[in-house]
Amino acid sequence: MPALNGPKKPQFIQLLQAIARPTERLDADAKRYGDVYISKLSGFRPFVLFSHPQAIQQILTADPSLFDSGIGNQILHPLVGDYSLLLLDGSSHQRQRKLLTPPFHGDRMKSYGNLICEITEQVMNQQVVGEIFSMRSVMQEISLKIILRAVFGLDETDKFQEIRKLLSSILDAVGSPLNSTLLFVPALQKDLGAWSPWGKFIRQRQAINKLIYDEIKTRRVENNILGEDILSLMMSAKDENGQSMTDSELRDELMTLLFAGHETTASALAWAFYWIHKLPEVKAKLLAEINTIGNNFDANVVVKLPYLTAVCQETLRIYPIAMFTFARILKAPMQIMGYDFEPGTQLTPCIYLTHQREDIYPEPKKFKPERFLTRQFSPYEFLPFGGSNRRCIGMAFALFEMKLVIAKVLSHWQMNLAETKPVQPVRRGITLAPSGGVKMMAIANNHVSLN
Ligand code: HEM
Repeated sequence: MPALNGPKKPQFIQLLQAIARPTERLDADAKRYGDVYISKLSGFRPFVLFSHPQAIQQILTADPSLFDSGIGNQILHPLVGDYSLLLLDGSSHQRQRKLLTPPFHGDRMKSYGNLICEITEQVMNQQVVGEIFSMRSVMQEISLKIILRAVFGLDETDKFQEIRKLLSSILDAVGSPLNSTLLFVPALQKDLGAWSPWGKFIRQRQAINKLIYDEIKTRRVENNILGEDILSLMMSAKDENGQSMTDSELRDELMTLLFAGHETTASALAWAFYWIHKLPEVKAKLLAEINTIGNNFDANVVVKLPYLTAVCQETLRIYPIAMFTFARILKAPMQIMGYDFEPGTQLTPCIYLTHQREDIYPEPKKFKPERFLTRQFSPYEFLPFGGSNRRCIGMAFALFEMKLVIAKVLSHWQMNLAETKPVQPVRRGITLAPSGGVKMMAIANNHVSLN
């Protein structure tokens, strides 16, 4: 069996590069070591990275009981807690997943269409014509309001305003490339008082926990668990032994949905607006397509628009928000592409490198939505939401939200990009976000004629 190759630099340097220059590091390593290589970051067990569709297919179609994944996601523990779906494995993962999936699919998901459009209008209306704003921040406000409403099902009370502000600041606190180090290096996770980075994080988390636990308690006291919202659903669910979820389980699952359900979509939307406004021909085609729906803004029609769909796909291809799927940690030996892997190996499909393959996506650094109109890609060539039993439960919801927000904004607001240089991908926690947040300026806020 050939020996597995990989970067030889000191592991601490590799970690710093992974934090500070994530995509350049991956591009350079893949160029040198190819479709499969081993990456060693200090503080972590080695990861074996794959970017060949054949290997990815083998991993994602294997019996899921051959792997653990949750145990490899401990880096997120400070944010989401012990009982988060992200951190579970085996039967407890399966049980929670069954419970959390339905609200993000089918009719239940579609019922959020009006809400998405209303919130988009409300937040966009706050932007002042002629002033520069960060598209990512605006999109984060939209996506956080949407997920909060879906999860708690209530109108904006003071409590939810407070949760929203705290959640935004806690994510900003670990979101910059520098502060991401806090998540990656547990030794830095020391509470040195309210002004220290970790001390601030802990206090914000305590404040959010209090609000969430208060809400759970109020609902239990009022026996108010019959609503359509996700918290009601979770509170009324019982397992096979008739047990309901505990308060800690409820808190961790709520944090998981609030965290996973808006950070990602906000970055994806900011990237989409960047490309649309950077490339006039993309914007012109998209506006022409959106114009075909006229004044009848029907979510069912918008989500089927082919060019809009291709723009969303290309956005998630070129800079996938998650660079990797979760690691699949082997529980039994496995052979992949001629290499033998022992139990305990962290097999990690690299979404970014797969999406950058020249043989699948010619001129991979160019934003070309047309590639999705002329070719069908397999789920092992295009996998922004991962796959198998860990595939993103919010995939349909995220795409639905992206399409509605883009169509709504473009049909009402005229904007210019206020960036002079190309915007680069930077790390935001464990995700990839546009550096500087994509500066834009609204130049008109009205129902523009798209003819
Ligand atoms: C553009 C937006 C999004 C992207 C790119 C994205 C991407 C991903 C990826 C790559 C995974 C790991 C899949 C794997 O390892 O195979 C994942 C898992 C997950 N995502 Fe998303 N996601 C997005 C939006 C959402 C939304 C809106 C929600 C919730 C409403 C959500 C909730 C989750 C959860 C709970 C998991 C863990 C699933 C499990 O462990 O079984 N995500 N996502």
